[in-house]
Amino acid sequence: MSELSVNHLLGIKYLNKEDVRLIFETADHFKEVINRPIKKVPSLRDITIANLFFENSTRTKLSFELAEKRLSADVINFSSAQSSVKKGETLIDTVNNILSMKVDMVVMRHPNPGAGVFLSKHVKARIINAGDGAHEHPTQALLDSYSIRERLGEVKGKKVVIVGDILHSRVALSNIFALQLQGAEVMVCGPKTLIPKYINELGVKVETNLRKALNWCDVANMLRIQNERMDISYFPSTREYTQQFGVNKALLDSLDKEITIMHPGPINRGVEITSDVADSKQAIILDQVQNGVAIRMAVIYLLASKIKQ
Ligand code: CP
Repeated sequence: MSELSVNHLLGIKYLNKEDVRLIFETADHFKEVINRPIKKVPSLRDITIANLFFENSTRTKLSFELAEKRLSADVINFSSAQSSVKKGETLIDTVNNILSMKVDMVVMRHPNPGAGVFLSKHVKARIINAGDGAHEHPTQALLDSYSIRERLGEVKGKKVVIVGDILHSRVALSNIFALQLQGAEVMVCGPKTLIPKYINELGVKVETNLRKALNWCDVANMLRIQNERMDISYFPSTREYTQQFGVNKALLDSLDKEITIMHPGPINRGVEITSDVADSKQAIILDQVQNGVAIRMAVIYLLASKIKQ
């Protein structure tokens, strides 16, 4: 198969195993490109992409913009904070106004779950979901799996624990779908209050004891507490959360094996992860960020090739 089964990247749940394989193979090629002295290819000179960010971002926004520029696409950036959204303009009106300037593809981060799906039904452009509320963050999950493949050889058969605020995390949901699609075993670990009630329907293991979870896994993906999505307290205090669910070097050194540590960022140093772990060779956090550019180049390239048909 040399093309994606989908016209938009709205979530991992819409992809199949072959799509993931194709994205990784294409990312392998682009990873080689971005390590050359000239880090650019002319592939998308005829494509214009709008990056619409209705929510804060550092990594995802910069990574998409860099990926688009490395592919020679024309790029426009929109941030809701400085826009006419503040004057009451709807999402569809905002996007249709941008599309009337002949935009081919939209990368969107939005606080509302399903915003990307909604948009894909109302506008004529390829849509890439760059994070929709607590729903999905597909390119994050793809770059996470790609980084596991790079560090451990393959994803199939690996045991991955996702630790922390599972309830409010789009990274957790997209990772569960992506890892299972590739044949990995998935566990979630965190306070009971931060594990969604529907978790058993997703076919993952659940553990509330971090030491047991770390002893089980090959990879631990540490999540931050999403305070911006919480209107009540889900645990007594940050200090107690860290005592029970934070990783530190002493804990990792006391395990029988060396595990790989991941984090999607932004990190809250000293809360879910200590600096001596985040900055250690066991952690692949900056590899994840680096791989994000190649993965996003692959996704954009593969979706753009469907526009050109
Ligand atoms: N991992 C991630 O989505 O980071 P940003 O919120 O900075 O984009």
